[in-house]
Amino acid sequence: MLRLKGMGDLARLLKESWSLVEEHQDKVAGYFYARIFLSHPDLRDLFPVHMDIQRSRLLNAIVTAVQTLEDPEKFDDYLRGLGRDHRKFHVEPAHYEVVGGALIEAMRQFAGEQWGVEYDQAWADAYAVIAAKMLAGAEADTNPPYWYAEVVSHERRASDIAVFTVLPMQPLEYRAGQYLSLECPRFQPRLWRTYSPANAPRRDNTIEFHVRAVGAGWVSSALVRRLEVGDMIRLAAPMGAMNLDRRSTRDAVFVAGGTGLAPVKSLLEELTRYNRTRWVHVFFGARTRDDLYDLAELNRLAARYPWLSVVTACSDDPTFPGEQGNISDVVARYGPWNEHDFFVSGSGQMVKATMRTLAELQVPSVRIKYDSFGD
Ligand SMILES: Cc1cc2nc3c(=O)[nH]c(=O)nc-3n(C[C@H](O)[C@H](O)[C@H](O)COP(=O)(O)OP(=O)(O)OC[C@H]3O[C@@H](n4cnc5c(N)ncnc54)[C@H](O)[C@@H]3O)c2cc1C
Ligand code: HEM
Repeated sequence: MLRLKGMGDLARLLKESWSLVEEHQDKVAGYFYARIFLSHPDLRDLFPVHMDIQRSRLLNAIVTAVQTLEDPEKFDDYLRGLGRDHRKFHVEPAHYEVVGGALIEAMRQFAGEQWGVEYDQAWADAYAVIAAKMLAGAEADTNPPYWYAEVVSHERRASDIAVFTVLPMQPLEYRAGQYLSLECPRFQPRLWRTYSPANAPRRDNTIEFHVRAVGAGWVSSALVRRLEVGDMIRLAAPMGAMNLDRRSTRDAVFVAGGTGLAPVKSLLEELTRYNRTRWVHVFFGARTRDDLYDLAELNRLAARYPWLSVVTACSDDPTFPGEQGNISDVVARYGPWNEHDFFVSGSGQMVKATMRTLAELQVPSVRIKYDSFGD
């Protein structure tokens, strides 16, 4: 098995060498793709039609992985999962060498005279270890690289929110609380984004999604405004660890912002199948009451299951009759919470704010699971 020697040294070499090209990132990205596509024109078809070189996902992802995964052994599961996930892009083993070579060439090109052979070696070593783990993950995967799924219902719940249900053509196994990759070939081919099923796995295999169209978002706006019943989408690679621990006897708190409600609904559906003993509190926040797009369904669940309570809040709707303020602050008005399991899901900002609140309330971090939808 491949192992990196002198981890501290390697990390230093990687950081030092990246600092030589950091300010020319756009040029490095341009050269990186040009090199790949000139030597292997067939690889162009793996990438989105409109590529934003400045926000290059692949180059940024590789550089981040190589720089932050100082000890790849610790990130074994993540890297194997990433390799499995790459099957949806039609990545083949031989492509790894092409991409790794282009990366080092591109950095060397813009680093100037200070670039040395020890930098070449450091990037080649780190990349090789990461690539080997990704390839092993891909090879061990017995699932199809993606699943086709037909849209069987689509409902606009607010100007920028849709709830839709799809039926995969083959059974797709995932755990409540996980997320899937989704591509909408009719409108945005080869752009994959992650979305969280809003239901636990069902016998009829249908999967519900809750999507909010963000700003100029390519995929989310297509899913909310253009997707129709009968369209085919593709799904891939269940991922994520925001799952219920069946052995836990602690009461649970779910904190959801906007469509962050989706994985919470999935976990709630799982709880409805077996829970008798745990009190469960849902805090659901949005800017205005129109954004509380699934409140009727939440209230129906709360009426049916005596162990469930729901608190709603609006941050930007002064006449809303529920709580006022950010959901992260509203949680702190209730409690005490130091004996509970926490599940937090929503925008990056909302998750960050909630984690801060929970730290202040001295909730041990091992009891908190979260999914952040943003950076
Ligand atoms: C684990 C996970 C689970 C997710 N589950 C869901 C889900 O169930 N429902 C859901 O609606 N979304 C979910 N997301 C977010 C989703 O994956 C996309 O990031 C989002 O839909 C935007 O994609 P896009 O292609 O429309 O935007 P892009 O074209 O990627 O981005 C366009 C612009 O919008 C900005 N932007 C991107 N995301 C956000 C955001 N969340 N808020 C504000 N600005 C943003 C970008 O910075 C960029 O400037 C999840 C994300 C993760 C990481
Ligand atoms: C060390 C090796 C690699 C790592 C760490 C890596 C990592 C990643 C990550 C994390 C993403 C997701 C980025 C996002 O969604 O924001 C991504 C996207 C992608 N990767 Fe890789 N990758 C590697 C190798 C490869 C190879 C060899 C190919 C083959 C050409 C490839 C093709 C792609 C494509 C097509 C995308 C989507 C790009 C886009 O949407 O713009 N990757 N990669």
